[in-house]
Amino acid sequence: MPKKISRMLLPVATAATFALLLSACSGGSGGGGGGGGGAATENLDGRGPITYVQGKDNSDVVRPLIEKWNAAHPDEKVTFKEQSDNADQQHDDLVKNFQAKNVDYDVASVDVIWTAEFAAQGWLQPLKDTMAVSTEGMLPATVKTGTYRDVLYTLPQTSDGGMLYYRKDLVPTPPKTWDEMMSMCPIAKEKGIDCYAGQFAQYEGLTVNVAEAINSQGGTIVGSDGKATVNSAEAKAGLGNLVEAYKSGNIPKQALTYQEEQGRQSFEDGKLMFLRNWPYVYNLAKTDGSSTVKDTFGIAPLPGKDGPGASTLGGHNLGVSVYSKNKATAKDFLAFMTSEETQKFYSTQGSLAPVLESLYTDPTLVEKLPYLPVLLTSIQNAVPRPVTPFYPAVTQAIQQNSFAALQGTKTVDQALTDMEAAINTTVSK
Ligand code: GLC
Repeated sequence: MPKKISRMLLPVATAATFALLLSACSGGSGGGGGGGGGAATENLDGRGPITYVQGKDNSDVVRPLIEKWNAAHPDEKVTFKEQSDNADQQHDDLVKNFQAKNVDYDVASVDVIWTAEFAAQGWLQPLKDTMAVSTEGMLPATVKTGTYRDVLYTLPQTSDGGMLYYRKDLVPTPPKTWDEMMSMCPIAKEKGIDCYAGQFAQYEGLTVNVAEAINSQGGTIVGSDGKATVNSAEAKAGLGNLVEAYKSGNIPKQALTYQEEQGRQSFEDGKLMFLRNWPYVYNLAKTDGSSTVKDTFGIAPLPGKDGPGASTLGGHNLGVSVYSKNKATAKDFLAFMTSEETQKFYSTQGSLAPVLESLYTDPTLVEKLPYLPVLLTSIQNAVPRPVTPFYPAVTQAIQQNSFAALQGTKTVDQALTDMEAAINTTVSK
């Protein structure tokens, strides 16, 4: 685990990252995961209204849950503060509000990659002692994403694993490898539609997709000692695959502006043959009035080098702000939002990935959501992104350099050399 910053990565840092690094340099507000300073010991018995902050509720599951909670808790009502659908913007909004010690950001949806940073800053209430919550039955990999220096800071809410959405009317048997998928692209061309897209805009989704491309070729981004390992032949093959596909048109030009939602839209419009995306797309592609592929799409594991590829581990956890005045209510709300009943609701209403392992083999769910076994395999084999309090700078190093390679302003070699240097410059061990 990186201990201190050796040099800041100012040119690539967002405003929020900059503020974070500065405060980390000056000792931070929380003392490295020690438990949020004074604020963490306050308001533990507090009950009353709270606010829940989360990115755009694409699957429309949050409002009905909050309505249900509010009906049962008239004196502890939850207000939903909905952020944008862009992971980086969600992050920066949380950082800004934690820095301002906003008492109205009681419970936040924390992307699996932010736990270390927020915990190290002392912004998250340790979920122990009176704030202890149950993680029983949750997939171990998800619980790990909520843990920093052996303390649970965020409680897994929904997991996420990448899958390949494909048009089974055009490609009856989905490709198992990347090369096979590329060899099928003439079918799309013949139909006048795009072949493949994932999330290639310059934001967190690009880090996810580049990591998958690299991991699927047997490469890694950082080693177990936290040092960058991305300047390798395998990583070159992985990033090279994306760059080549973009050059040849197998990945269409506009995919460089795609986040999750734009790719989903194109796929639902029938304009894309293969889409890498998260499980939430399943429900929308099946039920959206405007979806033209309701009965013609299938789901398969991500294609890899010689067989299935490796997904990046995604997902969201729930954290309680140390500045919340009503932590007893917040704790109960965490339990409600992660209960088995709520987990089933996430799956059946929004096709979100549950964190309770048993639900993946629940016969009623599997009948309704036939992709669950593929998803479980995806999550169980998923590769976590680097765990570090300095993650914002690490992801910037990945995003900037891989985007430059896609655009052709850097060669793949140069991009990986620069990526490795930038990751290693961010932190020292
Ligand atoms: C999904 C994943 C999250 C990831 C994000 C990137 O929301 O659950 O982990 O960071 O996509 O766009």
